Amino acid sequence: MNPPVLASGDDSALRATTAPSTHAMGRLVQAVRDLAAARDLDRVVEIVRHAARELVDADGATFVLRDEGQCFYVDEDAIHPLWRGQRFPLDACISGWSMLHSEQVVIPDIYLDDRIPHDAYRLTFVKSLVMTPIRTAEPVGSIGTYWAGERVATPADCELLLALADSTSVAMESIRILDELERRVAERTHALQASNHDLAAFAHVAAHDLTAPLATISGYAELISDMDAASMSSEGTNALGKVRRQAARMAGLIDAVLSYSTAATAPLSVSTISLRDVTDSVLCDLADLIASRGASVEVADLPLVRGSAPLLERVVQNLVVNAISYGDPVAPRVRIEGGVRGAEVHVQVSDNGGGVTPDERESIFDMFSRGTAGALAPGSGIGLAFARRVVARHGGTLTVSDAEGGGACFTLVLPGRVTAEG
Ligand SMILES: Nc1ncnc2c1ncn2[C@@H]1O[C@H](COP(=O)(O)OP(=O)(O)O)[C@@H](O)[C@H]1O
Ligand SMILES: [Mg+2]
Repeated sequence: MNPPVLASGDDSALRATTAPSTHAMGRLVQAVRDLAAARDLDRVVEIVRHAARELVDADGATFVLRDEGQCFYVDEDAIHPLWRGQRFPLDACISGWSMLHSEQVVIPDIYLDDRIPHDAYRLTFVKSLVMTPIRTAEPVGSIGTYWAGERVATPADCELLLALADSTSVAMESIRILDELERRVAERTHALQASNHDLAAFAHVAAHDLTAPLATISGYAELISDMDAASMSSEGTNALGKVRRQAARMAGLIDAVLSYSTAATAPLSVSTISLRDVTDSVLCDLADLIASRGASVEVADLPLVRGSAPLLERVVQNLVVNAISYGDPVAPRVRIEGGVRGAEVHVQVSDNGGGVTPDERESIFDMFSRGTAGALAPGSGIGLAFARRVVARHGGTLTVSDAEGGGACFTLVLPGRVTAEG
């Protein structure tokens, strides 16, 4: 920033430099600290208007913002009212002049300076002033300091005001960045909420509008096969079988989408549950699949956790079904084990299949995403998305890595170990 412009060639303006007093330096440090902690513009204005007045022992101080082509006198701290809330064209007031020229202006007698709109000052107490722009390049505002008597601000006064203006500009920039960050977070949250809302709306439609016609299709398919089984050609029986299988698949899909959508919002009824009991119940439900695939399932010790039993049961079920479906095609082997590490509970479900390649280790958790192994079995790509969502709602994580000796190992980590008494 250029050195102060002294008005009217007044020699007294050039009087000896005085170093800022210890008191003024202390006040400046306080203002700089307060500005560093300010989180909004109102607070910045509050700090600056008081600090500016006290720093140079002025009778008044104003905080002026550049607002398009105008100077907006946002607020003031003064012995008598100045121009709070008023706007003047940039080229019709001294704050505008200091912004347009990026220069601090020192005026010992305003009535001798033709840059001053005298009419605007006649009703005020102001006789002399210093106007300090905020920010060197393209000032965003200015700090006005005023005295009722004729006074030539010392170089020390000017330095103090320039330092205050520098800190003000940094604080305003930080707030701008903070606002921008907040705006982006809000936008992102809004987008996420919108997509969750879309999905919930879709689930609602799926539940009410698709389930009923689907039940009708299944019902009629059932009826036709009951009535005409004997007379039906083999193509007819085949086609009807396809209709029934596809209807069952669609019912499963609707159910999975509904579960996924409600997993994020439905109230969690949390209790202390035994993961061993949860797993036994899952294996019992999957007995037919296990037998038909000739799978062997080994269950080691499993801890207690705090969580929703029905939701965690579906998580384990998804992982076990995947381990069987994507395990070794001839003799799938599944191992389920767990333990407590520090404050966390770990559960691992591993298999002897082809595993998940590193480039698919995140994407397979996306909704409707099917990985390479997915080509081996029918599926919808919802299971892991659902599982991760449920685990996240429990404050935990679900990830995949290599199992010992090949295959995939899904690790579920839940917070909060629970003892048998807990
Ligand atoms: N145990 C596993 N071994 C190898 N790949 C797996 C395993 N479990 C899941 N995957 C991969 O993750 C994808 C997504 O799984 P999931 O969300 O359960 O949907 P789906 O089983 O319907 O495909 C699967 O298509 C498969 O590629
Ligand atoms: Mg699956």
